[in-house]
Amino acid sequence: MSGSLFTRLAAALATTEIDEKLALTTGIAADWRAGRLDWRDETPLELRCGRPARPEIVPPKAVPQRSPTTPEGRARLLHAIVHIEFTAINLALDHAARFRGLPQAYYADWIGVAAEEAEHFSLLRERLASYGHDYGDFPAHAGLWEMAEKTAHDPLARMALVPRLLEARGLDATPPIQRRLVENGDEASARALDIILRDEIGHVGLGDRWFRTFCEQRGSDAETTYRELLHTYKAPRPATPMNEKARLQAGFSAAELAALAKKR
Ligand SMILES: [Fe+2]
Ligand SMILES: [Fe+2]
Repeated sequence: MSGSLFTRLAAALATTEIDEKLALTTGIAADWRAGRLDWRDETPLELRCGRPARPEIVPPKAVPQRSPTTPEGRARLLHAIVHIEFTAINLALDHAARFRGLPQAYYADWIGVAAEEAEHFSLLRERLASYGHDYGDFPAHAGLWEMAEKTAHDPLARMALVPRLLEARGLDATPPIQRRLVENGDEASARALDIILRDEIGHVGLGDRWFRTFCEQRGSDAETTYRELLHTYKAPRPATPMNEKARLQAGFSAAELAALAKKR
């Protein structure tokens, strides 16, 4: 062992430098695999989430429409996804950093996810560069991170509302985006999203597994608890049509998908 996992996670989370965040995140994953990080450390740490000065953060409604028929629209669309991937790095780091005393596998899972999100970010940042743009060039919104803050007190709520709700919404949103990119001649970005969609099924699957584990430990029914949490947190229900195939692979049951598809 050569150091506290949590100190390393906190540093990766806090940095506002993009390249440093990517390097610290992949460094944690490598040291974790080599068995060099102590996950039993109980020293309390203050967690701060760092992001660069740009993009400018604006309310969701102030993010302009992104019609993919023009190069500018496709660049804005890709920028929005690059921002999601950047936020996803911070989310996975925070899942692992914030909640102590959980099984080793929990930390392994979210360290692995953080490293994959860093790959997704770089992959899509390259696609954005092909349009002559970089991360930060357009405004973005902070909706994803707000849910992290609201669930900072409870890993059960965090698993339900971040991976199992918000990342699952990404599974639904991706195939239509891919179609629009292909229709407008950007096959390369659509293929990058194939890789991301495959990995994201895994992330939602981990969220599903840990959510069910925490529900079981508390003696509550997972699928009922999930719908109660959506209500309590005034969270959006999935937009239909859902990507049922991907959601079933990630661990949702067909009965739960049917219940979620019903209007309240
Ligand atoms: Fe991702
Ligand atoms: Fe993800």
